[in-house]
Amino acid sequence: MTSHPPLHARTIIEPFRIKVVEALPHITAERRHFALSAAKCNPFLLRSEDILIDLLTESGTGAMSAAQWAAMMIGDETYAGSKSYYRLEAVVQALTGKRHVIPTHQGRAAEHILFGALIRRPGLVIPSNSFFDTTRANCEYFGCEALDLLYDEALDPRADLPFKGNVDLGKLRQVLDTRRADVPCVLVTVTNNRGGGQPVSLGNLKAVHDLCRQFGVPLYLDAARFAENAWFIKQREPGQCHRTAKEIAREVFSLCDGFTMSAKKDGLVNIGGLLCLDDDALADGCRTRLILTEGFPTYGGLAGRDLDALAVGLEEVLDEAYLAYRQASIRYLFDHLDALGVPMMRPPGGHAVYLDAGAFCPQIPAHQYPGLALTNALYLEGGVRGVEVGTVMFGKPRQGEPDECAPLELVRLTFPRRTYTQSHVDYLIEVIAEVWRNRAELSGYRITKQRAVLRAFTAEFEAVV
Ligand code: F0G
Repeated sequence: MTSHPPLHARTIIEPFRIKVVEALPHITAERRHFALSAAKCNPFLLRSEDILIDLLTESGTGAMSAAQWAAMMIGDETYAGSKSYYRLEAVVQALTGKRHVIPTHQGRAAEHILFGALIRRPGLVIPSNSFFDTTRANCEYFGCEALDLLYDEALDPRADLPFKGNVDLGKLRQVLDTRRADVPCVLVTVTNNRGGGQPVSLGNLKAVHDLCRQFGVPLYLDAARFAENAWFIKQREPGQCHRTAKEIAREVFSLCDGFTMSAKKDGLVNIGGLLCLDDDALADGCRTRLILTEGFPTYGGLAGRDLDALAVGLEEVLDEAYLAYRQASIRYLFDHLDALGVPMMRPPGGHAVYLDAGAFCPQIPAHQYPGLALTNALYLEGGVRGVEVGTVMFGKPRQGEPDECAPLELVRLTFPRRTYTQSHVDYLIEVIAEVWRNRAELSGYRITKQRAVLRAFTAEFEAVV
């Protein structure tokens, strides 16, 4: 018996064939220049008709299967007591063991409802490995501190470690020791999107669970990418390779008291979210809030057909041929770029490759946004849209001075699920290689217009010449 899974002797292929296609637009270099300047040099403001390969996000941008489309046709649009809800409830309960299954229109609605119910006074703190932006914003909205407790080495993009999403147990114990009464829950994000799609190990989760039990604090998961996390555990954690991804996912869910989930990721649907928990009184409070903002508890902001598509998606996502292909396609891009010497966050995450723009174009200072410069160069070179995850997104403007910079200047190339094929990735490699060859020519940007909150989505830029 080995502790590693067998190496695949043959190419790992897309484990599907294509039944419906969507044409990609042919866009000339001239058209791309025009489109980017019309978008004020902010890729968020581009129109999809001007994009050839869109790697902005994998949230809600994947392809549904024939089985999911078929399930949508039997969606029951009854307002209260829909059959679709009970089908979804059964699938979620079998996978996660949670008693209360509350659908929401997407992940952030589940976060808003949960935090609204859990955060009952000012001065509280929720420790986490790392909060995703909307999760942090929802936590802070209710006056609670959102605390990131990753191990220090997880912040080093070059540290090639298997579980960079792990919670630093020493830091967590310290918070629980000193501020137990202020901690309404601990939240663990699987995988850690903010930190590069890095997984959390089963061992780490068990240790967090034990600490939470010891201090009497509930443990919640942000489970948007639970299947990718389970696959990494199977691949990388000693003793786990002979278990199925589904068995591992079940164990992960058994360790938490509840979870929020953006179903737009590992739910394999274009819209949807879940809030699931065991605590009856808390669930009751959450359902009251749900009725105020989302809808009746058996549809929660979704159509009946969306609930059915999600019920099927949650089963399909744990198919190991799919998970192996998904990880292999991200690894394929990473390995080719690594051979060219392109600097990236290591190891590649479960849903994206993150280019290290700070190291890619060191001539551009952080306050002139190297990540944006690289993102825009990729678009101009090949019509590829990535997303800056650096000072534009996380830096802070300062009066009369350059921005306060983000810790890392990254560009996320996110893989929508079951959407692009290997030749798309080959094309992407050619585009990145060309920009890499000409990297000395890249120059920075300055902001001409921005909002005080979440500026990345709407800011306008001009090139620094
Ligand atoms: N939690 C995580 C870990 C996420 O990555 C996201 C969304 C959410 C919660 C919020 O879910 O969008 O359904 O409301 N991430 C997307 C992204 C937007 O591009 O990474 P949502």
